[in-house]
Amino acid sequence: MTPITFNVPRAVRFGAGASRELPAQLRQIGARHALIVTDAFLARSGLADTFTALLTQHGFAATVFDGVQPDPSDLNVRDGLRAYRESGADVVVGLGGGSAMDAAKAIALLATNPEPLRQYMGYHKVLRAGAPMIAIPTTAGTGSEVTRVAVITDTERSEKMMMLSEHLTPVAALVDYELSMSMPKALTAHVGVDTLTHGIEAYVSRKANGMTDPIALSCIALTGAHLLTAWREPDNRAAREAMALAACQGGMAFSNSSVGLVHGMSRPLGALYHIPHGLSNAALLPTVTRFSLPGAPVRYATIARILGLAGSGDDDAAAHKLADGLEALNEALEIPPLRECVRVGRAKFEKSLEKMAQDALASGSPQNNPVVPTTEQIIALYKQAW
Ligand SMILES: NC(=O)c1ccc[n+]([C@@H]2O[C@H](COP(=O)([O-])OP(=O)(O)OC[C@H]3O[C@@H](n4cnc5c(N)ncnc54)[C@H](O)[C@@H]3O)[C@@H](O)[C@H]2O)c1
Ligand SMILES: [Fe+2]
Repeated sequence: MTPITFNVPRAVRFGAGASRELPAQLRQIGARHALIVTDAFLARSGLADTFTALLTQHGFAATVFDGVQPDPSDLNVRDGLRAYRESGADVVVGLGGGSAMDAAKAIALLATNPEPLRQYMGYHKVLRAGAPMIAIPTTAGTGSEVTRVAVITDTERSEKMMMLSEHLTPVAALVDYELSMSMPKALTAHVGVDTLTHGIEAYVSRKANGMTDPIALSCIALTGAHLLTAWREPDNRAAREAMALAACQGGMAFSNSSVGLVHGMSRPLGALYHIPHGLSNAALLPTVTRFSLPGAPVRYATIARILGLAGSGDDDAAAHKLADGLEALNEALEIPPLRECVRVGRAKFEKSLEKMAQDALASGSPQNNPVVPTTEQIIALYKQAW
């Protein structure tokens, strides 16, 4: 049997105010000048300036690059890399949601590895360690702060490239749930279901293992207990803290196990139709879960029980209750069906199904699903989720 790999950042600092430890983290790695990679919205909110001021106060230099778009592209990475080189920075800080953190990872990677980025798509293709990268998440979330994964859109091919390599793991993650408290309701719902999907897919994955199972189950339990509260009561600190923890655990679990068919099918929806990642996952999750149940009924039943959706009876019946429960969760969180997320109409959507199914399979994620689908089955699932 292949030995298990469990890879996480050297340091994960978790709790209110953890992000203020950024200067201490820079000191530890001997860095002097940080490139803060973020998006325009977070820059306008003043958050990037807060960290610039904090670093300056402690004798460090900081430059802000705020050119990250949601679902970051290779062009964002190219611009960020130029900012890194021109500023003379020696560490990259990803400040924001998955988009800012993933862009920061790719910039750090290209600081020491040759372009183009495309050659690193897939598993373990990165040659050498990048510049050090520190992650500060503001959503809860993708878990990217602790993963060895980055997802960047290849603009030429309209494809979201998934790259997995230990060289993409941040050196440190500063998980400060207070930064997530400004998330509006819809964003809370989307990123929260992304977290739940990470927990579920990591637990039912063909690569699930003894290191990831307990973390995945904890992620699922925390999300089940706190997501709706965080959504209804944005100022509820306990719920925000629990969701930040769940996101971090979801990241640790899937990064060392894998995601599956939901993520495989979700990325093409992001690349072609710019549906937010968490939203496209949520819209697919009940349908794909129902399809995948026969491959891991006991595991799906365990998840249903942890979420309080089923009792101790028959596993198959419990597993089916999970799919129903996920549908009900979407409704409670006001997550619309796929047809309302894809704004191009059914005919155009159907024309793209073949490419989307092929891209889904090419990402490698569906191959880790409890039931490995064919191209035709993926097309049918997109239609069912419509
Ligand atoms: N690398 C990984 O392990 C991993 C895992 C899952 C998803 N992803 C990727 O992450 C990306 C999605 O990231 P995301 O869902 O965190 O969203 P995001 O980073 O795209 O952010 C979405 C929007 O929310 C805003 N925002 C962020 N934090 C906020 C806050 N605290 N308050 C108010 N607004 C805030 C941003 O400015 C942006 O406009 C996708 O590209 C996805 O593929 C990566
Ligand atoms: Fe995800």
